[in-house]
This record gives sequence, structure tokens and C-alpha cells, in this order.
Amino acid sequence: MRVLSGIQPSGALHIGNYFGALRQFIELQRENDAYYFVANYHALTSVRDAERLRAYTFDVMVTMLSLGLDPERATLFVQSDVPETAELAWLLTTVTPMGWLEKCVSYKDKVEQGLSPEHGLFAYPVLQAADILLYDADLVPVGQDQKQHLEVTRDIAERFNRVYGGGEDVFRLPEPHILKSVSVVPGVDGRKMSKSYNNTIDIFDEPAAIRKKVKRIVTDSTPVEAPKDLEGDSLLALYRLFATAEDIAEIERRYREGGIGYGEVKTRLAEAIIERFAEPRERRA
Ligand code: TYM
Repeated sequence: MRVLSGIQPSGALHIGNYFGALRQFIELQRENDAYYFVANYHALTSVRDAERLRAYTFDVMVTMLSLGLDPERATLFVQSDVPETAELAWLLTTVTPMGWLEKCVSYKDKVEQGLSPEHGLFAYPVLQAADILLYDADLVPVGQDQKQHLEVTRDIAERFNRVYGGGEDVFRLPEPHILKSVSVVPGVDGRKMSKSYNNTIDIFDEPAAIRKKVKRIVTDSTPVEAPKDLEGDSLLALYRLFATAEDIAEIERRYREGGIGYGEVKTRLAEAIIERFAEPRERRA
């Protein structure tokens, strides 16, 4: 299958990007025809400093390589190196009803956060549709927050096919590939991990920074002896991503019975994160 996905170079990549997207990228490059790119046109909606955008673009590519994306197996590229993307975005925009974009949550969210709503931010999903349709992608690995953009992509493709296809398909309809267990990785404040919420743990944070950020993860005030809630606890949710099945079972049992402090789980989580990325960190250096 043709697999395609992109990541914005708007800062250091975090463990939400890793579990929601990068890990699937690595897995899917083995048996598929995979294309992964650094979405620098998209990042222009938030980064305007040329030097910084270049540095972030380089950083995302280096991060992808150090985590195991392999240019022998996958095609790795920078979005703006294929300027036809912007050309196609214009063609698609002529068949895209305003209403489809007005209801896009990520646009509405950004406006609510006080970001000035330029047209680029509004039309962002059309550019994303161009990214995907240009390469006839079958499968698009992403986190849950991109689901709506994938739906818009399919809608635009269908509309374009109806208008211009003359009974045949111009564009292939892509399927999102979203793994339920990692679809929304929580940040240290319990909301979705995101650069714009300032709640991330970055993949290549220094060990000292990882320990410090993990200590900040918000937990309730249940005392050590008391049984603890297994649902809605972002510390446990993060721990599940990094620990072995055995360790998870042990911690969950002690949550249920009581007798475990959040401090202990935090220490174990921090060490597990550091350990997980130790080898890529060396490769990256
Ligand atoms: P971006 O750059 O915000 O994020 C990159 C990928 O990481 C996933 N992700 C998460 N997954 C789980 N939990 C989280 N807390 C979390 N935070 C981020 C995102 O879902 C995404 O898969 N519009 C896209 C970039 C893009 C794209 C494309 C993707 C541009 N063109 C074409 C696919 C196909 C974006 O902003 O992702």
C-alpha cells in the first residue's frame, strides 16, 4: 500500500508525536511504499522566522532519521521541495465549500487561543488534502486530532472526482490509520500533549529535563495507602506507553489495592522514557 504522512516543523517533537505518528511511520515503512515529509508550508501558519523554520525543518528530519526512519525503505522529503503541492491546493480549493472548513475544530481551537485567523490557517486542511491526494496515498497514519482533516480530504477528493472525473476517479480516497491505544497522548497537565499547551515531554529532552517534567504531571491527592483510580489518570496512561506488560500489571494491581504513591510511578516513568530514547539520542548526536 502507499502510505503517506507529514509532521509540522513547529518545534521539537514530543512523545505524543512519537506514539501517535512516528512509531506507526517506522512500523509501516517495512512492508509498504512509504512517503513521509516535513510539512514546512503548513508550519508557516505559526512560524514566520526563516532561520527558525529552517532549523526546525532540519530538526524534524534528523529526529525521524534517528528514530529509525530509513531512506532505503521510505521516501523522506520536505514539503516545499514539491511546489506542485501548492498548485494542487489551489485547484482543490475551487471545489471546497467554505462550510467544510468553517467547522474544522483545529482552526476553531487556534482562533479561540487568540491566534489571528489568517486565510492560511483557515485553508490549512485544503493544503493537507493536496499533500495526500498528490501522492495517491491509500493509508495515512496520524493521531486522533487529524481525523477531521482526513475526512475533509476524502470529501474534497470525492467532490473533485464528481466534478472533473467524467465517471472515473481522478483521486484515490485515503484511509486514516489511527491506533486507538495511542490516539491521544496526554500532556503533563492532562490535556492532549501539544506544543501550543506547553505541556509536552520532548523525545530528545535531556534526562534531567525529562525527570523534571514528569514530576510536574498532574495527579489527584489520593494518599499512598488508598486505592487509586485507573481511569482518567494521565500518569498511568503515560506509564502504559513505556512499561512492559508485567510492570503495567504490577502497577495496576497496586493502584487497585492501594499502597503505591504517585512519586514512585513518576520515577519509574521518567527512567523508562530516558531508556526508550537512549539509543536514538546517541544516533542523533
Ligand atoms: P502535527 O505536526 O501537529 O503532528 C504530527 C503527528 O503527531 C500526532 N500527534 C499526536 N498523536 C497522539 N497524541 C498527541 N498528543 C499528539 N500530538 C500530535 C498528530 O496527530 C500527527 O499525526 N496537519 C498535520 C501535519 C500534516 C499531515 C499532512 C499529516 C500536514 N500534511 C498530510 C498527514 C498527512 C499536523 O499538524 O500534525
